[in-house]
This record gives sequence, structure tokens and C-alpha cells, in this order.
Amino acid sequence: MTARDEAINLFRQRFDSDPEFMIRAPGRVNLIGDHTDYNDGFVLPMAIEQSTWVAVAPRGDREVHLASVDHPDASFRLDQISHANDGWSEYVKGVAWALGERIESGWEGAFATDIPIGAGLSSSAAIEIAAVLAFNAVSGGVWKPVQAALAAQRVENEWMGLGSGIMDQLIIATAREHHATLIDCRTLDGEPTRMPDDVAVVILDTGTRRKLVGSAYDERRRSCDRAASEAGVTALRDLSLSDLDSLGDQLDDETFRRARHVISENARTVEAAHALADGEIEQFGRLVNASHASLRDDFEVSCDALDAMVEIATSVDGCFGARMTGAGFGGCAVAFVREPDLDTFVDEVLDRYRATGAGEPRAYVTGAGRAAAIMTAD
Ligand code: GLA
Repeated sequence: MTARDEAINLFRQRFDSDPEFMIRAPGRVNLIGDHTDYNDGFVLPMAIEQSTWVAVAPRGDREVHLASVDHPDASFRLDQISHANDGWSEYVKGVAWALGERIESGWEGAFATDIPIGAGLSSSAAIEIAAVLAFNAVSGGVWKPVQAALAAQRVENEWMGLGSGIMDQLIIATAREHHATLIDCRTLDGEPTRMPDDVAVVILDTGTRRKLVGSAYDERRRSCDRAASEAGVTALRDLSLSDLDSLGDQLDDETFRRARHVISENARTVEAAHALADGEIEQFGRLVNASHASLRDDFEVSCDALDAMVEIATSVDGCFGARMTGAGFGGCAVAFVREPDLDTFVDEVLDRYRATGAGEPRAYVTGAGRAAAIMTAD
């Protein structure tokens, strides 16, 4: 059964009626440009085909009732919002808090998803954007995707207490089908780049899950902020590699390497978007490989499982680039593979990775999907 049908069935079971509309919010994979978004830098993500679906009906009162295939039911009143626990419904409650007075009424919704949960494919940002869409629809608001992404980011930062950047929410809210988007995280402008037809994007789940990612992520952010402030700039986006070199001994070795990753990754990301647009796939692949090395050696957010997956992927025929993707410390890598080699690539990578004993791997082949949207329930 599809996630869409699961959401509709669950809605009927729990709420004893038919939903009035459906919401679909995709996960995302970042092709290149990691740990750059919170440095006002560049990212090149795309939405994936795997999505969270919500079957929704407005309520005449100010209550929100939630059901989910994967999690316990939850409900809350719009006029009495407070933290209860850190469960999945906190993302929806956080959205209610962030939208505040813009919300006119409650709703009931049933959630189902085929985004792998906790794999670094933004399953939680998908819930947030889906919730913004639901509140917006029942309140008769005009849909403004960038505003929605900013509200969802506030949920992460201020309600959930995670210092994440804008990439995940922004691509989920604005993605264009068949395109990756080069996003300038300072201006929030996006430049869609069509994905070549003969290149398959393969998400390789290492089967390892991120540990302590919140604290390590925040620690990386602090290093970046420290480097920017030592250099007297607003964000690392404003520095070139030669600016960094001229800082000399002002930065300790670790802070220097963190900054070098961000500055070099920004340049690689812009170049990679152009290479993709110009069909220079080999060059795109080289930049992707260099991104992994920089995340591994300078930013130190990879791990043995991700390194093993990337090393295996890049050694198999048909692959012209692979890297860890997202926050790191576990989760998924992404590989770019020539379409005719796809099946043998996937079989060989999974077999060889399994033999390392690092974790039970999975592969998801995905085209570039569409942005989150409302649709009919028929
Ligand atoms: C997580 C965060 C994003 C971004 C990536 C790393 O996915 O939510 O904002 O910082 O890590 O690129």
C-alpha cells in the first residue's frame, strides 16, 4: 500500500469520516554543500520522491488531533500550547506555536510516510512543512513557501532546540520536479538546475544512525562562528581561502580546518551546480568526491560506515562521484551513477558494504521530486 493510501485508511479508522484534502511533503537529499547553510553559504539539494502524506479535515474548534502509522496518537489545543515530550507531534505543535495568531482553526490529520525515518533525509522537516500547509489551508492563508520554510526552521531552532540551518525546510517547500536547486542561504534565492536524464541519484543508507548529532552539530556551528568573528566578517560566506590563510595564527588548527571546509565547500557547490547545468558530469563527480574528503578530513563529520560506503561506491563501474550527505555522523551517502550501470552498481555496492559488517545497507534510487503541496483526497 502507498503511504498516501495508508494515510487515508488511517484517517477513516481514527476519525470515522473521509478526509477533505491531502498534503504531500517530500524528504530531501543534498547533492553537495553540507554545513554551509548556517554560514550564509550555498547548498544544492533536491526533493526526493519519498514523501510524508497527511490526510486532513478541518475542525470547527481550536483543537488539533493527530494520528500516525508510525507513532502514537496525539492532540493539543491551540490556545494551550506547551512542550509535552520530544515525540513526533512536537513538530506539529511547534508549527502551531510559530504561526501563532495566523491560525484560525484546528484540524485532524493522519500521517504516513515512506521517507526512511532518522536516516538524514529530513523526515522531520517534511512533517513541519506538511503541518504549515495544513494550518495554512484550514486558515485560508495564501501559500508562501519561503515564509513557510522560515517558520519551520524556527520550530527546529526555538521549539526543538536544534540549531539547524534553512536548507531542509526550504528545499521541501520550494523544490521543482526534475531539478536540483542551488540555494543562496543568505538571500534565500534558488536557482533550479535540471538533472541530466542519464544520471541516476542513488541514496545509500549505511544502516547506522546518528549519535550525539545535536551536540556535535552545535559544536561545529560554534567553530564556524568563532572563525567568522576572528576574521571580522558576518559569516564564513564572506571569506576566501586566501583571506583565511592571512589570518595566520589567529585560529587554532581545528577552527582553521572547519573554516577551510566551509569556504572550499561553498566554491565547490557553486561550481558543481554550473557543471551539472552544462552537462559536465565528470567534473561534477570530482567536486562531489572532493566534498566528501573535506567533510571527512577538515570538518570531521563523517564516520567509518560512511567512509566505507563512499569508498566502495566510487570504486564500482558507472559511478562518477559519491559523498556523505546531510549532517553526517551516520545515515546516508549519495552516489551519482550512469543510468545503464545502475542495477549492477546497486547490487555490487550493497554486497560489498554488507561484507564489511558496518551495518545493514539499503539503496533508494530517486528522481528529483516536487515541492510540498496540497491535493485532493479522491
Ligand atoms: C542538517 C541541517 C541542515 C544542514 C545539514 C548539513 O540536515 O538540518 O540545516 O546544516 O545538516 O548540511
